[in-house]
Amino acid sequence: MLFAPTLLSLALGLAQTSGQGAVATSQVDATEVGLQILAQGGNAIDATIAVHFALAVTYPYAGNIGGGGFLLYRDADGEAWFLDFREVAPAAATSDLYLDEAGRPVAEASQVGWKAVGVPGAVPGMWEAHQRWGRLPWSDLLKPAEELARRGYRIGAREANRLENYGQAMRKDPVAKDVFFPNDQALQMDDLFRQPQLADSIARMREHGVEAMRSGDLVDGMVHASQAGGGILQHEDFANYQPILREVWSFQWDGREVLAAPLPSSGGIFLQQVLFTLEGTPFRVWGFEDPRSIQVLGEATSAAFRDRNAWLGDPSSLDFDPHDLVDTEYLRSRRRSLGSHTYSPPSRKLPAPPIEHLETTHFSIVDGDGAAVSCTTTLNGAYGAKVMAPGGFVMNNEMDDFAALPGTANQYGLVQSKYNAVVAGYRPLSSMCPVIVVENGKVDAVVGSPGGPTILTSVLQVLLARYDFHMSPKAAMAAPRFHRQDLPPLLQYETERLNSAQKEALRSFGQPIELRKRLGDVNAIFRTKSGWEAIADPRYSGSAGEVRNSAPSGTETQQ
Ligand code: GLY
Repeated sequence: MLFAPTLLSLALGLAQTSGQGAVATSQVDATEVGLQILAQGGNAIDATIAVHFALAVTYPYAGNIGGGGFLLYRDADGEAWFLDFREVAPAAATSDLYLDEAGRPVAEASQVGWKAVGVPGAVPGMWEAHQRWGRLPWSDLLKPAEELARRGYRIGAREANRLENYGQAMRKDPVAKDVFFPNDQALQMDDLFRQPQLADSIARMREHGVEAMRSGDLVDGMVHASQAGGGILQHEDFANYQPILREVWSFQWDGREVLAAPLPSSGGIFLQQVLFTLEGTPFRVWGFEDPRSIQVLGEATSAAFRDRNAWLGDPSSLDFDPHDLVDTEYLRSRRRSLGSHTYSPPSRKLPAPPIEHLETTHFSIVDGDGAAVSCTTTLNGAYGAKVMAPGGFVMNNEMDDFAALPGTANQYGLVQSKYNAVVAGYRPLSSMCPVIVVENGKVDAVVGSPGGPTILTSVLQVLLARYDFHMSPKAAMAAPRFHRQDLPPLLQYETERLNSAQKEALRSFGQPIELRKRLGDVNAIFRTKSGWEAIADPRYSGSAGEVRNSAPSGTETQQ
């Protein structure tokens, strides 16, 4: 561990010291870095930048330099911002990039190897955030990540398992092989993982800022590796990449304001559709466990996924106003058609998607001034495209979030439309769903999750549990979840979610069901009477040998 104080003592220190905020991430060293930055007087954006780089070192499965994400920020004055630093399709991308000669999609091509890599936005995104809103010097924020890479950290059980289960393809990559499989053996739990190449790369970014990812050695390395590996990245892609400041997708929900992600994320539209649709049903009266509630929620999410898949993509691709999808008349008519005892099958069948991989990662941060960041960041698949830049960081396979051939399924079983076709310079449609809930003018919750399309249903259900069913923050996070996305036509549920009677009732409605071990890995912060309560998803607490990472309550901030 990098810092002398343990997370616990630091967290306790936070709880005792007025107004320093809270951090929840999926990795203990990264959380500690965030807390240290807050303790040094950094604001939520400073902590975000430090955590983002730390995760690239200590959570290579999803944390990234070679990927991108979304940063939702509500500043101390109550103004909300959305920074899109998602990957874009390279300039040389064409609509047939992932099709064979017969015009059929080749899944492997958009998932593994350099051809699957979109132009990464992580460093330009963090740089932009710092330029606009940072307080501490940029260099100070990258220093902890550089040290973690240089001195090393202990591999946890979860990382070791993931490498074993999802990282094997990296053996074929000349850089990744040496980093993750020294002596031809995967890194094991408790191994000290040092990454000197990555440390040098971060040092370069510390010194040169975003310019280190616009041109120079790091970019040369990626372009050459891409060309050698059948990819299409060129120097101009890195020189031209720009993060985009977009209008926050915000809406009212039962007297509170929900700040959410606009396109190219489907998050805001999905949440607004489902929350509005449910508002007029007896859902709350029936209760959380009633099969009618489960059915009606599944029907509502399924309908929202149908819209997502039919209509959403990069905003530049749209030939209509996306607000049409949250038109109240449109949603009222949907509400009327939702059955609480009936199952609406999709128009066609597809096989079940592969078991959930928790690709992507989310972290939540609040600072002592009351500013909040909800940041979801990704390489897309586990270890992205399973290739590593010569600079020692894993590259994304975000191109698989485009519809390679509109009408066919991607790795999550999502079937999408022409609006999400591969177009040079466009961003692929995302399910990443960072959220900030504002009540009485104050941040009340900061929520987000990884999990492909299950991000949307996981975030939704934490909000419903907390606000519609009035659960405590801990109970809302622990409440069992389920997921229904139209295609495939299953309602997937966590073990504790359904008892025999509920299952029988759902089957009697005609609803096919399927067990899934876990859904989501939500990292969230809630306002409570006694202060902030930061909670990492209890689904992963106590996973062997790995310390979980939420800072307990800090004191309530002034706003
Ligand atoms: N790559 C995951 C997402 O953007 O939804």
